[in-house]
Amino acid sequence: MKTEIVVNPDDQALNRAAGIIKNGGLVAFPTETVYGLGASALDERAAAKIYLAKGRPSDNPLIIHLSAPEEAEKYAFVDKTFEKLAEMFLPGALTVVLPKKEIIPASVTGGLDTVAVRVPSNKIAHRLIELSGVPIAAPSANISGRPSCTSASHVIADMDGRIDMIIDGGDCDIGLESTIIMSEGDDRVRILRPGQITAEMLSDGGFEVSFDKAVTEKPEDGEKPLAPGMKYRHYAPRARVILVRASVCDFISFAKENTGGGNAFVCYDEYVCAGIPDMFTIGPEKDRTTQAHKLFSLLRKFDDMSNIKTIYIPLPEKDDIGLAIYNRLIKASGYTVTDII
Ligand code: TXA
Ligand code: MG
Repeated sequence: MKTEIVVNPDDQALNRAAGIIKNGGLVAFPTETVYGLGASALDERAAAKIYLAKGRPSDNPLIIHLSAPEEAEKYAFVDKTFEKLAEMFLPGALTVVLPKKEIIPASVTGGLDTVAVRVPSNKIAHRLIELSGVPIAAPSANISGRPSCTSASHVIADMDGRIDMIIDGGDCDIGLESTIIMSEGDDRVRILRPGQITAEMLSDGGFEVSFDKAVTEKPEDGEKPLAPGMKYRHYAPRARVILVRASVCDFISFAKENTGGGNAFVCYDEYVCAGIPDMFTIGPEKDRTTQAHKLFSLLRKFDDMSNIKTIYIPLPEKDDIGLAIYNRLIKASGYTVTDII
């Protein structure tokens, strides 16, 4: 299949993209979190093409993307908690799992009787959904298991020749996927996947917040996380990722002692030192927004360096957006954490 690539689309190009969606095709598009791989959420055959293009297990449900929170009630049973969340955080990087209505095919929700609803703030995404006139089912645009795509070049690397169109809207602002929560009624929410809308922000908004165990821990054999996707190895570059629990000083000494031999070390901008050529920066130590923004492109960069066999990364703190970084890295590492003495 020939994939059309459109850079910074005008309305005419977005109308063409919307036509592809309406006719059951696949279009990758930017959002403020990561790039999505979109198809009509009302069209079972189109949704099936998403699973095929990504190599995604069919029990892993898709998020539906809407142009406004008010649209949600057409596809899901909304409650007061959703309305309050929408007022505070939408459009934005928050996905809410709600009981689904009949109109959403079971193949889109992996057979679940709930549907995950998201209203992106990215202007291109918003206009594409509006012009399509249907909810757009879109997982992250990466091949299943690989790090998500935060720029069009990542999407081209994974999807060129597999889908109808790729819209290049530049780098994604946030760089990590949306926060997924489940409403448990009466302003109680459970976080299934952490993101840029943090537990702290939800608490400050007056919500009582709890976490699915899979946010920080490896699911036991046969155990089902509330977000089915959390059970799969994910966000992983080809090289092995090992998280290191150590002070920055000890981490740098460790890097110095182990440089070479296919090892790479991720560190903060302030700690780059001469003499360790295999050191890669992820942003300033205190600026976790930048770290989140750079994480997936850094993991993908390692895939272009065939000499790298093992990537050592400091174990992140678990507060604020750190929890989202922790969650992605712990999964990228297959839960491999080591202490250095
Ligand atoms: O930021 C994002 O959320 C991006 C952009 C493109 O919007 N999308 C995204 O989709 O990350 P995906 O498919 O890569 O991840 C969706 C996650 C999966 O872990 C899936 O299991 C979970 O959401 N999910 C989807 N529907 C669900 C449902 N009804 N109940 C529980 N979890 C659900
Ligand atoms: Mg994904």
